[in-house]
This record gives sequence, C-alpha cells and structure tokens, in this order.
Amino acid sequence: MGSDEPGRHDTADGRSPGLEQLDLTRPDAYGQAFDDVYDDWYGSHRTPDDGLDAMVRFVSVRCPSGVVVELGVGSGRLAVPLHRAGLRVIGIDASQPMLSRCPPSIVRVAADMARLPIRARCSSGGPAPTEPPTFLCGFNTLFNVGSSDGLDRLLATVACVRATLIVEMLNIEVLPAEPIRSTDVAPFPTEGGIVVSATSADAPNRRLAGRHLEITDRGVVSRPWLLRLVGHHELDDRAGRHGLRAVERYRSWNTDPFTETDPSSISVFAPDPLGSPESADPGDHQPDARNR
Ligand SMILES: C[S@@+](CC[C@H](N)C(=O)[O-])C[C@H]1O[C@@H](n2cnc3c(N)ncnc32)[C@H](O)[C@@H]1O
Repeated sequence: MGSDEPGRHDTADGRSPGLEQLDLTRPDAYGQAFDDVYDDWYGSHRTPDDGLDAMVRFVSVRCPSGVVVELGVGSGRLAVPLHRAGLRVIGIDASQPMLSRCPPSIVRVAADMARLPIRARCSSGGPAPTEPPTFLCGFNTLFNVGSSDGLDRLLATVACVRATLIVEMLNIEVLPAEPIRSTDVAPFPTEGGIVVSATSADAPNRRLAGRHLEITDRGVVSRPWLLRLVGHHELDDRAGRHGLRAVERYRSWNTDPFTETDPSSISVFAPDPLGSPESADPGDHQPDARNR
C-alpha cells in the first residue's frame, strides 16, 4: 500500500490538500490520484487468469504486425501478458508515476492519448506504415479522454496510420437514464481499513465521477476521479467519420456475442475500405459542433 506518501493523507482539519486540489481535467490526473494503489486495487492478481489469457488470444489474432500500442498502459496489467506472448508492446500513458510502475520490457511513452506523438508524422503527409500496429484501449480507459475533440483526434490518428483499434468499455446504455448518486464499500484490499466509494453517474451528460475514500488508522485519503462517458453508438458514429468501422463487437474477450443489455463491450474498429474519412489527417480535423 502506498497511501502513506506525503500529501495524500487528510490534514488535521479533515482535508487532503494534495488530491483535493487536483485538476481532474488534466490527462495525468488519474495517475496522480491512483498510481500508489493501482496495482493493489486493480492489478493483474485481481483479474482472473483466464480473463487475461483470453485478452491475449483476442489481441494476438488481431495483430498481424506483432506490435501493440496500448493507450493508457498504466502499470502494465495488460501489456505484460501481451509482451510475454511475444508481442512488442508500446505503452502510452499521460502519467509519469503510472508509467514508472510499468516494467521496462514495455516500450514506455509519456503522452496524452488524445495527442499521440505519431500525429506529427501523419500531418507531414508521410506514408502510413505498411504494417500498422494494433491499438488497444483497456477497460474504460477511453473514458479518460476528456472531450469529444480529443476523442476525434485519437480516432483520426488511428485512421491516419490505417490501424486497428480494440476498445473495452462499459455499455453506458445500461446506466440509469437519470443522474444518480450512490455509495458503496469497495472490494479493495486496503490493509486494516476500508475503501468507501461515492459515485455520481450522469449518463445523459456523459459524466461519471466520484471519489474513493480510503480509511485506515493512518488517516483518510480521498481519491477523486472523473470520466467522460462514450456510448458505442457515439463511438461508431465518430469512428465512421474518420474512416473507421466497428467490424466486431463482443461482451467478453472470449468473443461471446454482445447484446444491448450487456454491461460492457469489446469493439474492434478497422479502416473501412469503402469509407471516405471526414479527415484522413488528425491535424486537419475540424470538430463537429453537433455532439459537444
Ligand atoms: C484505469 S487505468 C488502466 C491501466 C491499464 N490499461 C490496465 O488495464 O490496468 C487508466 C490509465 O490511463 C492513463 N490515462 C488517463 N488519461 C490518459 C490520457 N489522456 N492519455 C494517456 N493516458 C491516460 C492513466 O494514467 C492510467 O494509467
């Protein structure tokens, strides 16, 4: 547990100045708030082996180049088993503290996934790579992109290099249609303490926010988070405007078929041979005012 790091515990007046003042719209905010507990709370030991094995099989057969670019790689929960299976993994993350927890066997790049460093190469008009990598965005990580413009830039970059994109995310269609607030005791292993989570879900406004209150005998750490929700219909629509098409969608890495009432989905987007991208170049992209 790393929660005794300076600045994370409440002060005597009950406030955690470090994390309370975090600007949650920054791309590195999630890492600032969670890097020290991420592996304990969400690491690979919390994911069933067969889940990771199925993920590896799923990605491997959709990765002819042998190169995976994982967006929001974090500490390598997905990247490490992919690397062990023989794939070359380039891990992108906006948070340096998170990246530093990812092993060096993964090529680590500090960058905002909404401003990928390969954008400049696309913009310069150079040829797209002959064997494009496969982009992977694990569970709900796409929701860390804070704006529709950012999502458009990301999709335009994937389309620009004619890559495949695999996205695992919550199916927001199953969330309540009205904004709701809830509290829960989270199933995280905080030694000698508990974690209470308070969540505010506002699906109509595409906002999911909350905080985890980690309560131990050392004090309270309040860890805030903010996600911008994207539904698969919106994602399909935006991807389509950039010349990408949802070619597969499942409810699990085991390729069980997806239905609209499933809690989450795994989608595969590929360049549409018939599509005429609204923008083949992320640098040229003019955001559409309809969905902001
Ligand atoms: C929920 S964690 C997922 C980590 C890993 N993919 C996994 O499945 O365990 C989300 C990761 O995305 C990173 N992240 C958040 N916003 C980002 C952004 N705009 N660009 C790149 N990485 C971002 C965070 O720092 C964090 O490491």
